[in-house]
This record gives sequence, C-alpha cells and structure tokens, in this order.
Amino acid sequence: MRNVIAIDGPSASGKGTVAARVARELGWAYLDSGALYRLTALYAREQGVTWTDEAAVAKLATDLPVVFDGERVLLNGCDVGATIRSEAIGMGASKVAALPQVREALLQRQRAFAENGGLVADGRDMGSVVFPQACLKVFLTASAQVRAARRAKQLGIACGGAEFDRILADIQARDAADTNRSTAPLRQLPDAYLLNTDHMGIEEAVNQVLDWFNRACA
Ligand code: DC
Repeated sequence: MRNVIAIDGPSASGKGTVAARVARELGWAYLDSGALYRLTALYAREQGVTWTDEAAVAKLATDLPVVFDGERVLLNGCDVGATIRSEAIGMGASKVAALPQVREALLQRQRAFAENGGLVADGRDMGSVVFPQACLKVFLTASAQVRAARRAKQLGIACGGAEFDRILADIQARDAADTNRSTAPLRQLPDAYLLNTDHMGIEEAVNQVLDWFNRACA
C-alpha cells in the first residue's frame, strides 16, 4: 500500500508525536490506534462492563459511538480527549487490547482510515496485522528509562524520586503486557526500520521517517 506508513512501538516512545508530524508534512490523515483501545476501555467502564468480559467489550468496540473531529475525540458527543489519556484508562486499554474479539472488532474501523487517501498509523500492530502491505514500516522505540524521563518531564516530576520510579514501573509493566500477549504482540518486524530515539529529538525523528518514506514509497 503506497499510501500507508505504519509506525509501531512501545508506550511513551513519542511515536504519536512523530506520526502526527509526518502526517502533517505529507498532508495525510493520522490514525492513533491506541485511542480506539482507550475509547473502548472508557466506554466499557461507562457502560458497567468489566474489561475482561470479552464478548461484551467486543460488542461495545463494534458499536463505539466515536467521532474524531480534528484534535477532538468525541464519545457519545462528549469530548473525552483528556479522560482517555489517564493512567487508569491506559491500563484498561492494555487489558481490552489483549482480547482477540476486541482486536477483530476494531480492525475494519482502523482500515477505513486509509480508504480516502494517505495515512500514517501508529500503534502496536499497524505493520503486522492492520496494514501488513504498508510501503513503510517503522519500529520507533527508546529505552524504558528515557521514556520514563520524558513522561516525568511532561508531568513536571523530578527524575529519581518515588514518583519517577512509579512512572518507570508503569512503563515496564505496560511493555511486558503488550509484548507478551499472545494476540498481536508488540515486536519489531523483519521489514521494519528501527528508529531508536534515545539520543534523538522529534525533528530528527520526523526527518528520518520522511527520508525513508521518500526511498521506500516513492
Ligand atoms: O499507544 P497507547 O498507549 O495509547 O495504547 C494504549 C494501549 O492500547 C496499549 O497498552 C496497547 C494497546 N494498543 C494495542 O494493543 N494495539 C494498538 N495498535 C494500539 C494500542
């Protein structure tokens, strides 16, 4: 698929920022697939459905009343952009994302984003399951320590204290859950370019992806 760039990687790696910037540079649409799992977790909580009830959560995922309106994410008409970014919903997303029926329910919805032109999609299985024919696949990562430090900075938390340790532990737990699950685990594909941003800023990462794009998709 000449019109799709798939960017996968662990949580807090900065792949969302990079993917959105690449999409803007190319004038393409952007899919934050993690938001769909977060929305599913939030919708389940709102409907009183437990995150482990596979059939019921999958049904909710199929009927997800979501509208992406520019930067805004509306669930049942309510702006939930901030709510889905919470730690609790992140954990819920990780739980519902491990359920095969839920992943299946969200598959077509994700593919539909590429029907009307170019798409940059980020997540865990963009290159492996959702868009295996993408013309460019990138595995964007950074060490857990660096990702924790970036998140701590965003939250105004000093490096090294108990709060920082909690953030690091959370990132490591999420990595383990996303990597070790049996359905669509996070992994670097043999045909994906590796982009480690431990010592790299956003600008440089965006330029690297665009450079690969020009070579692989032109
Ligand atoms: O990228 P994120 O942190 O917003 O993702 C939230 C959770 O959803 C994360 O624990 C993994 C899961 N996820 C997934 O399994 N597959 C995707 N394509 C995107 C996210």
